[in-house]
Amino acid sequence: MVVPMLDLARQYQPLHRELLDALDQVLTSRQFILGDAVAAFERAAAEQLDVACAIGCSSGTDALWLALAAAGIGPGMSVVTTPFSFFASLSSILRAGATAVLADIDPVTFNLDPACVESVLGSHRGDSVRAILPVHLYGQCAAWDAFSRVAGERNLLLIEDAAQAWGAAWNHAKAGSLGNAAAFSFYPTKNLSAAGDAGMVTTNNLEIAERARMLRQHGMGHRYHHRELGWNARMDGFQGAILSVKLKYIAGWNQARRELAARYDQLFRAAGLAEDGPYPEHGVVLPREVPGTHHVWHQYVIRSARRDALREFLTARGIGSEIYYPVALHAQEALRGLGYREGDFPEAERAAREVLALPIFPELREDEQQTVVAAIADFLATRQ
Ligand SMILES: Cc1ncc(COP(=O)(O)O)c(C=O)c1O
Repeated sequence: MVVPMLDLARQYQPLHRELLDALDQVLTSRQFILGDAVAAFERAAAEQLDVACAIGCSSGTDALWLALAAAGIGPGMSVVTTPFSFFASLSSILRAGATAVLADIDPVTFNLDPACVESVLGSHRGDSVRAILPVHLYGQCAAWDAFSRVAGERNLLLIEDAAQAWGAAWNHAKAGSLGNAAAFSFYPTKNLSAAGDAGMVTTNNLEIAERARMLRQHGMGHRYHHRELGWNARMDGFQGAILSVKLKYIAGWNQARRELAARYDQLFRAAGLAEDGPYPEHGVVLPREVPGTHHVWHQYVIRSARRDALREFLTARGIGSEIYYPVALHAQEALRGLGYREGDFPEAERAAREVLALPIFPELREDEQQTVVAAIADFLATRQ
């Protein structure tokens, strides 16, 4: 049986009519950029996340840049982030004109480790740090209590990369409402997804919100009067319309993901394949929801000591999998100028060698999950 990593057709089929009607309204209104459809999505999104302001924009990458720039991050300042994330978590800091400082991750959650952040803040690289940018990786919030304490003690800003975490929470507060500002991505593979590129900044700070709104439109206050140098980072009307429809279903989809993750856990344990970790030996280490978090399982990521061979085996059987991320950011060719070396972030480097994301999407069936786990059992049995 073929098991896809993600099958968006299963999401589209039941929503077909509703989505086409929403697109038709945009065509009729001719408000193709921003306009009523984006404004309606912004209002509904802010209400769902319990934040004062939501600003729709052109991608998660632009949302990160807008959040940083609107919060006042720029040249002469540094921002601490994780070496184990998508490239944009870090490149947006550089695009804002600031310097990126890295700290290692927690091997259980794969999120930025607050203890590592504190130690880097005490080093020579910590002097010009003005903000911390934790990523809620795979749909689980970073350790927010610790980051709030550190930021409070040192008067730092907290910017959330919530690109993978729509609906996640920390102590019942939603991702997107935790920091000074947050960035979401609606890239088509995300748990809340557009039909193209789209993103959003959320914040409870009205000044940051106003500045982000201005920066996404070339820094325009009044039409053709530019108060500062911004960029074209607007959301288009079709994406706003599609996202408003999907916003009604995302809580149910996230709940389905939670049930799928619980079932993977049961299946792996019943097959005797699960190891305690954090590092794998002969079996697989399963992902965990840590106390205080509400995980939305954007990805279900296991660890295996023979990850590459396991992935090849699954591919040969028609089972999808993906590696998020195979190269830690400090090892990326484009980021050599940051001045880090291999060995500087051992947890991130080890995670890059061992992580494997398995199929998880709301419509994934139980027999498909059984097929995935049975294939992994076969691999582990035959190739010890
Ligand atoms: C953690 C993280 N940050 C930022 C982004 C950038 O979002 P986008 O692809 O919408 O620009 C993504 C997604 O691709 C992501 O996963």
